[in-house]
Amino acid sequence: MSKFALAERVASLPPYLFAAIDKAKAEVAAQGVDIISLGIGDPDLPTPEFIIDALYEAAKKPANHQYPSYVGMLQFREAVAAWYERRFGVKGLEPKNEVITLIGSKEGIGHFPWAFINPGDLALICPPCYPVYATGVKFAGGEVMELPLLEENNYLPDLEALDEATWKRAKIIFVNYPGNPTASTATTEFYAKLVEKAKATDTIVVSDLAYSEIYYDPANKPPSVLQVPGAKDVAIEFHSLSKTYNMTGWRIAMAVGNAELVNALGKIKENVDSGAFNAVQEAGIAALQQGEPFVEKARAIYKERRDATCEALAAAGIEHQVPDASVFVWAKVPGNKTSAEFVTDLLKKTGVVVTPGSGFGECGEGYFRISLTVDTDRLKEAVSRISQL
Ligand SMILES: Cc1ncc(COP(=O)(O)O)c(C=O)c1O
Repeated sequence: MSKFALAERVASLPPYLFAAIDKAKAEVAAQGVDIISLGIGDPDLPTPEFIIDALYEAAKKPANHQYPSYVGMLQFREAVAAWYERRFGVKGLEPKNEVITLIGSKEGIGHFPWAFINPGDLALICPPCYPVYATGVKFAGGEVMELPLLEENNYLPDLEALDEATWKRAKIIFVNYPGNPTASTATTEFYAKLVEKAKATDTIVVSDLAYSEIYYDPANKPPSVLQVPGAKDVAIEFHSLSKTYNMTGWRIAMAVGNAELVNALGKIKENVDSGAFNAVQEAGIAALQQGEPFVEKARAIYKERRDATCEALAAAGIEHQVPDASVFVWAKVPGNKTSAEFVTDLLKKTGVVVTPGSGFGECGEGYFRISLTVDTDRLKEAVSRISQL
């Protein structure tokens, strides 16, 4: 035993899902198996060249070599506000107080609870979901209560399942549409009900919109919670350039919404980090202003992949949802295995890496998640191997 006892908040953490998968994958790859990795939602497509060029130019400016602003360059925040207006019709976001730059949205989501959660405070999460919501709350000493997302409810939480007292106790609710891992989407009607509930019970709505730009039907674009009139009274929304512009490695994202919530997050950040590299923010401005034609092409590629994958899954008799958005397909584990057994077996016997649904919460048991982050032929090959297991 080490003489350095881990803090309880770390000792009690489950292994970070993707770190555990990476380790198992490395072991199988070491045996010479051809691995097809559909485990993590990390776009394989390259960052568009004009964004790289913008970074190169910005990196040459000496002023950009110094500490950036804690809350981000005003020009980046202005570009975010303008993008929100163009994309979502959300008008009047005030760049100085209602937009903050993040070093990736994971950082912002993980830090946000520190601003509002005292030990023992309650936050609501909607599993199966991105693990960082719960971890951020627990790091701040808070408690997490689950509002599970069920297939029969179209993976929307049942807001009436909790009594008034619980809603009043809850300081935050986290929602994520298009959802990771379920790929489900929400409507503005759902967001309107959520905002109404949150207003009535003084609950903060945290919306995670990281996947909004990967949609398959332009007539049905995923909305922002901020489209609901009055949402800004209670909501903060996290968004990211990671998935939209294939920039996961760049670490550039934003949070927008209620000024008190945005400024409180800024208060935490100014004490623990020193802002995002200005050159990356300048490249981010280029992405937000000129990126749409490139995203359009990426959508077409994901659509081809989604269609090929879903057709192959259907032909193999594997139940799944055909997603309207996101880079994921959420499918049912065939047979009687648990998600973890299925995923481990699949990796060992076929070299295909997928993510067990149970890794996103108990209610993800019986499902697995496929990431559409390899080319169509490899996806078809992967489903063929899955069907032979
Ligand atoms: C639902 C969701 N939110 C947020 C993130 C974080 O993205 P980033 O930190 O790259 O902005 C991810 C990453 O996979 C995600 O799946």
